[in-house]
Amino acid sequence: MVSILFVCLGNICRSPTAEGIFRSIATERGLAGAFEIDSAGTGGWHTGKAPDARAVSTAAAHGVDISRIRARQVSTLDFHDFDFILAMDTANLAALKRIDPGGGKAVVDLFLPPGLEPGMTADRCVPDPYYGGPEGFEQVFALIWRGAERVFERVDPSRSSRR
Ligand code: 4NP
Repeated sequence: MVSILFVCLGNICRSPTAEGIFRSIATERGLAGAFEIDSAGTGGWHTGKAPDARAVSTAAAHGVDISRIRARQVSTLDFHDFDFILAMDTANLAALKRIDPGGGKAVVDLFLPPGLEPGMTADRCVPDPYYGGPEGFEQVFALIWRGAERVFERVDPSRSSRR
């Protein structure tokens, strides 16, 4: 079992989208049972809430149901419980490093890999779509899908070695 926690700021836009997309990819490949997938926010303002309606409808338009996810804040226990904790941007990666109590097993890293196709993102950051329009949610969905495929390749339990 490989456990992955996707992390953004509010846990209502980017990280629940990543959670839903990763689960879809794993299910499509017959490997849903091999993963424990969750998401959380470095901020706690939206705890207990459903994802942003724009994130829910964008994901639904692509066949991904994130409507039942509820927001929660990252906890120090997460660093012991998860194999990977993947941040949507550098600000949230820095916040994770401040929260990390040390001694846990989690590999804490950016979600996006280096060297994505030119034009997708220059800085390995998924931009925050919260204050923008609906087209921002579409762009972020496509970027997160690409990133989730790369994460899957990185952690694929049917492969013998991990990068
Ligand atoms: P997320 O987007 O980090 O992708 O969930 C945000 C949602 C809410 C806020 C910021 C970012 N907020 O400040 O309330």
